[in-house]
Amino acid sequence: MPFVFFETFGCQMNVADSDALAAVLLERGFAKTERAADADLIVINTCSVREHAEQRALAHIAEHAAHKRQRKKNQKIWVVGCMAQRMGEKLRHDFPGVDRVIGARDFEKFVQGIDTALAAPKPAKKGAHEENAVSRFVPIMRGCDNRCAYCVVPQVRGPEVSLPALRIEDAVRSLVDKGAKEVTLLGQNVNSYHDGGTNFPGLLRRIHSIDGLERIRFTTSHPKDCSEELVRAMAELPKLCKHLHLPVQSGSSRVLGLMNRKYDRERYLRLIDMIRHHVPGIDITTDVMVGFPTEAENDFSDTVSLFKAVRFTAAFMFEYSKRDNTPAASMGDDVAQNVKQRRLRELIDLQTAITKRHYAAMEEKTVPVLFTGRQDGGEKLWMGQDFGCKRVLAACNDSLAGMILPMRVLHSTGMTLVCERT
Ligand code: SAH
Ligand code: SF4
Ligand code: F3S
Repeated sequence: MPFVFFETFGCQMNVADSDALAAVLLERGFAKTERAADADLIVINTCSVREHAEQRALAHIAEHAAHKRQRKKNQKIWVVGCMAQRMGEKLRHDFPGVDRVIGARDFEKFVQGIDTALAAPKPAKKGAHEENAVSRFVPIMRGCDNRCAYCVVPQVRGPEVSLPALRIEDAVRSLVDKGAKEVTLLGQNVNSYHDGGTNFPGLLRRIHSIDGLERIRFTTSHPKDCSEELVRAMAELPKLCKHLHLPVQSGSSRVLGLMNRKYDRERYLRLIDMIRHHVPGIDITTDVMVGFPTEAENDFSDTVSLFKAVRFTAAFMFEYSKRDNTPAASMGDDVAQNVKQRRLRELIDLQTAITKRHYAAMEEKTVPVLFTGRQDGGEKLWMGQDFGCKRVLAACNDSLAGMILPMRVLHSTGMTLVCERT
């Protein structure tokens, strides 16, 4: 039986793409391996969003290519995803060990057409190796039509396309049949989803009516399109988790203008008030960057004060990374590295303290938890998530995977609720 080894960088969209490719390969007789050395096929799914993400992927490609020379003569290496799109055949030139480069834009077609792309191994019994994860990612759209000045995603993923609602419903149903309890609907800007008469809240209602599905999540919501209709749907639909990821990027209206985000600080803050009014207790998380071109101390303090005002449950925080062929690339990259580092550190310290208080506030409460699986390395430790975005750990001799249980929070660490069964 041939073995495939996956290495996936980047966002959930890449995880979903890797899963889709894996499903096709498993049906065709491959088995997954956790050891690259055992693999007949190595798939590296790449990200281009920041230079650091590309550097890491390149280092891994170089390593696999070097090992390949010492290993079995027949090992294949495929580089797929966003960096594969951006760099194309140059990757094969720079790393002769790479056999195929498949860009993110061609990926879906490639996966569908894999019968012709792969010298057929003996197909295994259909469905023999399908995975039955509790929580799955489901892309509902591809690409992005926004032009955030810093962002490489529109060029590597192409224009925005919504997938047909019927097809999404089918995909969710089939995952539920295989044991999924939760789905996370994915798009760069889910609020602009539309298929004929179905907008995003409409799609949520359709997915909501699928029997056996217990929880629905989605990401990402662009603040410019986050409507009151969506927020009301969150308040009304009981399967919708109380979590909204709403990337703010900066607290300075001047910088937001340069970023082409199409909202300002005040509008973002009003949006937060509206959301909390309709959905009290909701977890709101965000993405932010420091050191965007021309960001001055007062712009950065606007970000700090916004973080203090909103009190996000958690945040992904980045240093601005200049990406070729984006509008911001021509604005220079004038904030010194050490200044970016200091601002990032300050923001992380502030947010870490806020996150910790959000988690601590849950102590002694009872929360509904969906358990997704075993904690790595902990035989009797089970991982889950509450109805917002908070991570849960619980010790139990029996498997909790796939169960939704009321759990009492014993204590909290920075980013984990340690719970016991009530
Ligand atoms: N579609 C999502 C974001 C996808 S990229 C949205 O609109 O929010 C994920 C995050 O990476 C972004 O939210 C942003 O904070 C960060 N990011 C994107 N480009 C970046 C860059 N050039 N430098 C640093 N961070 C960046
Ligand atoms: Fe990038 Fe903006 Fe599109 Fe998000 S909305 S993927 S940040 S261009
Ligand atoms: Fe995702 Fe990175 Fe591509 S964030 S869309 S994998 S550039």
